[in-house]
Amino acid sequence: MTHPAMQAIQADITTLNVDAIVNAANKSLLGGGGVDGAIHRAAGPELLAECRTLNGCRTGQAKITGGYRLPAKHVIHTVGPIWHGGQQGEAQKLADCYRNSLALAEEYELHSIAFSGISTGIYGYPAQEAAEIAIKTTQQWLAHHPEAKLQVTFCCFSAEALATYQRLLAETDLA
Ligand code: AR6
Repeated sequence: MTHPAMQAIQADITTLNVDAIVNAANKSLLGGGGVDGAIHRAAGPELLAECRTLNGCRTGQAKITGGYRLPAKHVIHTVGPIWHGGQQGEAQKLADCYRNSLALAEEYELHSIAFSGISTGIYGYPAQEAAEIAIKTTQQWLAHHPEAKLQVTFCCFSAEALATYQRLLAETDLA
């Protein structure tokens, strides 16, 4: 592996003991289904209380809160694009989610961050295209921010998602 700073695992992101997990939120930041619902359930009501103070979040942007009852110290909430077929700036907005989350991690001097598959559930982004953007954007960001010393985990919920990430990470090795 020539990317010691990037790895993919299969896990429930609410169980990860990292500096920050990245939530696939919606613009209200007030919770929802999918990984958002799981994170709020596991973190407890204090997370929602802090989220209420944030005044929402635009698509592609990211905001950080505490992790409360989670093993993770922080939650970075980012709002992925809803998939409308790919001609409405979805790829750019999804890349923004990764860049802005990584920038927050650097700003808060975090050393480990785990991403959920932003937009690949309820928001309908095709899994392989989303994984390509996640890996490419993170690789480029890490190359430009070596001082951040950030360990990035792509947290896959399904075995299929993990296989996709493993394959793409291996291909990235060869590039
Ligand atoms: N751990 C890790 N990954 C998970 C977990 C978990 N516990 N649960 C689901 N996933 P989604 P989106 C994966 O739908 O597409 C919410 O209602 C899931 O398999 O959670 O960005 C928000 O409030 C998928 O790969 O997020 C928004 O309204 C990935 O997480 C909307 O859904 C993202 O799926 C956001 O939709």
